[in-house]
Amino acid sequence: MAQFLDSVPFSGIIRIRDMMYSVDRPFRLDQGDVSFDAPESVKEALRKGIAENRTHYVQTTGIPPLLDLLVKKMRTVNGTPIGGADEVMVTNGGIHGQYIACLALLEPGDEVLVPDPCWPPTVSNILAAQAVPVPVPVYESLGWRPDMDELARLITPKTKAILINTPSNPTGGVMTREDVDQLAALVMERNLWVFSDEAYEDFVFDGHEHFSIASWPGLYERTIPLYTLSKTYAMTGLRLGYLAIKDKKINERARKIVSLTTSNVSSLIQYGAVGAFQGPRQVVDDFKIELGARRDLFYEKLPKASKGILSGVPPVGAFYAFVKIDPAWKSPLPNAPESLSWAMTEFLIKKARIGCVPGVDFGSRGEGHIRLCFARDRKELDGALESMEAHL
Ligand SMILES: Cc1ncc(COP(=O)(O)O)c(C=O)c1O
Repeated sequence: MAQFLDSVPFSGIIRIRDMMYSVDRPFRLDQGDVSFDAPESVKEALRKGIAENRTHYVQTTGIPPLLDLLVKKMRTVNGTPIGGADEVMVTNGGIHGQYIACLALLEPGDEVLVPDPCWPPTVSNILAAQAVPVPVPVYESLGWRPDMDELARLITPKTKAILINTPSNPTGGVMTREDVDQLAALVMERNLWVFSDEAYEDFVFDGHEHFSIASWPGLYERTIPLYTLSKTYAMTGLRLGYLAIKDKKINERARKIVSLTTSNVSSLIQYGAVGAFQGPRQVVDDFKIELGARRDLFYEKLPKASKGILSGVPPVGAFYAFVKIDPAWKSPLPNAPESLSWAMTEFLIKKARIGCVPGVDFGSRGEGHIRLCFARDRKELDGALESMEAHL
């Protein structure tokens, strides 16, 4: 049983994080971590939690005030017909939510369609459930969206679920209402499930909209929506995610995994999360406006800074630049990796002190690209671009 874990890969992001610790004054554009601090309402709720000694065990799936707020949020913001708090559970961040959802739903050998490129832990969580990730290409020419006919052709009798991540990490692609319409019809017709990873639901730009597939008629019954406060409330280190499962059997399995892996997610952080939802919504809107501005500045300066070697159009969602490397570029470093995206990553880290992630780490279709996070503060982004211009 334990041996199968040897075939579950660590993400290259971890290798890069380790490489970055040996870099002097690094520009940390490798991690998907915003430069903002958690809102005052979160910090105040944490302080209050400490003062009130909220340091004991709490309910396995989450404290009631938080569960109530999550039900309300998913009903009103996402339009999902959540029956009640018993359908919802709090997780140790979004990554834990993915793990729980995969273990609760998948049987060994089940196939799950996943976008290619896609966030590496998603694939690893499917593998950890001994299921089989099946890549669905997403196309830059389609705004990093899939071709729905091609997606339909990849469904086999073994397909159990389709995983969607909109807005997407790493591409920033956002599914349109028509995409979700088509996907919802397909899921119903072929009797499938959906994992809907909506980690970046609050960061959609240029008038685009985020749609939650669980709000489509009949879809919540066969969807596990997955959320996190990491990005929306700048709470990456605090670890707070949540999911909802209507089906009683699968919900019970998921509850067992929450119990076995956490007993309960940190009591204090759950009180902090209550503060996030009760605090002013303006904070998130401000984050979004600033991220949009950073995106525009980054893309404005990139052509000159990279001497045209890196290119792409600004993404409509999330906060990553998933940019194409000129295939004619050759790394001047000795023993450069054969993979173009790894060669560029190593070059930028070693020569220009810029953290980034090779596209191939997100799937074979990501080769030839790198991912840079533009959620860092403006000074860091400018520093990275200046360093790029000096070295590339
Ligand atoms: C697509 C996607 N889903 C889920 C997560 C989970 O984040 P966390 O575990 O920090 O809540 C991330 C984080 O980078 C992500 O990019």
